Amino acid sequence: MKKYLFIAMLLAAFVLAACGGGTSNTGGITLHEVPAEYAGWTNPLGGDAAAIAAGKVVFETNCVSCHGATGLGDGEAGAVLDPPPADLHKVNELAGEDFIYFVINEGVEGTSMVAWKDTLTQEQIQQVAAYIRATFTP
Ligand code: HEC
Repeated sequence: MKKYLFIAMLLAAFVLAACGGGTSNTGGITLHEVPAEYAGWTNPLGGDAAAIAAGKVVFETNCVSCHGATGLGDGEAGAVLDPPPADLHKVNELAGEDFIYFVINEGVEGTSMVAWKDTLTQEQIQQVAAYIRATFTP
């Protein structure tokens, strides 16, 4: 038993060491530092009921297959992914809306979370960000 504990601690140390440089991974979420061009962004559509309703459609069309209808990261396509899709409730707990806006635009390198800025319009990104913020409460 002790041996397993030791191995587990060793693995944990490796994982921690691999996460240097302003990036940390908390429960499948990579909390990058938000780059200057996105830092401090606030959503002009935040709290707007029509925008949130439009964001729900964007989410159901583009995101639900991985992140799941309830945002827990348990969508059908997401089940086989490594790392798994982020739990968006956790994202709301741990990160600000500028982080959410940044990752939707730019994606998360080395994961199947792709950049959406060339697929969706900026308005759609703001709408889906407003929907995530309003819906998947921590
Ligand atoms: C092909 C599967 C897939 C689709 C489709 C997808 N995502 Fe993701 N998403 C992921 C994965 C995997 C991660 C976890 C990345 C990581 O480990 O940091 C993630 C992470 C995130 C995060 C948290 C960022 C982070 O660092 O973990 C947000 C916010 C997010 N996705 C929003 C969206 C939105 C909005 C859409 C639709 C426009 C979307 N995702 C579509 C797979 C997907």
